[in-house]
Amino acid sequence: MRQLRFEGTAEARTLALVPTMGALHAGHMALVKAAQAACDAVVVSIFVNPAQFGVNEDLDAYPRQMEADSAMLRAAGVDILWAPTVADVYPDGFSTGVSVRGVSNGLCGGARPGHFDGVALVVAKLFLIQVAPDKAFFGEKDYQQLAVIRRMARDLDFGLEVVGVPTIRDDDGLALSSRNAYLSPENRAKAAALPNAMRAAIAAVQAGAGMPTHLLACGNLDSKWWF
Ligand code: PAF
Repeated sequence: MRQLRFEGTAEARTLALVPTMGALHAGHMALVKAAQAACDAVVVSIFVNPAQFGVNEDLDAYPRQMEADSAMLRAAGVDILWAPTVADVYPDGFSTGVSVRGVSNGLCGGARPGHFDGVALVVAKLFLIQVAPDKAFFGEKDYQQLAVIRRMARDLDFGLEVVGVPTIRDDDGLALSSRNAYLSPENRAKAAALPNAMRAAIAAVQAGAGMPTHLLACGNLDSKWWF
């Protein structure tokens, strides 16, 4: 990383990090593009982080496609692909945790206890020791994650900029996500109802409708699915 930055020379360069868990798609490549526009050199990390998966979650099934991912990153002109092993990140005896209180609670954090502690831990390691970027890029799709990482970077004086990049969506309105591969056609149609209902609600509210009534009436979403 020091060489990549031309550290200690008159041509010192800025370094961007795009942390990912691989199974890359156009959403990740939008992060890469934003990173390339903002910094001189770009590192993309691929690490399926066990610490952010709950016991009954999809750690083993999570899509892994390192060959295809590295080809995409090479074609995009990324400078370094950093793909550590679990032992690199969590060597024997590893016993430190990172917890970002408040913003990790509720929403996704409520449904996945410990998830954001695992995210914060691995991102802290990438930020502090492994890559030490000037800027790091995260999708707005995982908005609570972005808020957790921003809070952590501020609280712990990491001295880098956390940049949020707008969500990339498929034609049916669904946000691109590596886990969309799990959806049956029927469940995919149900999932797409969420962004479409939100869009319809925004349009209705902008046209002067009362907020709660229209949120409830839009699409086929029932309020019991919201939180
Ligand atoms: O958003 C992700 O892919 C992951 O949560 C992240 C930020 C790479 C940490 O493992």
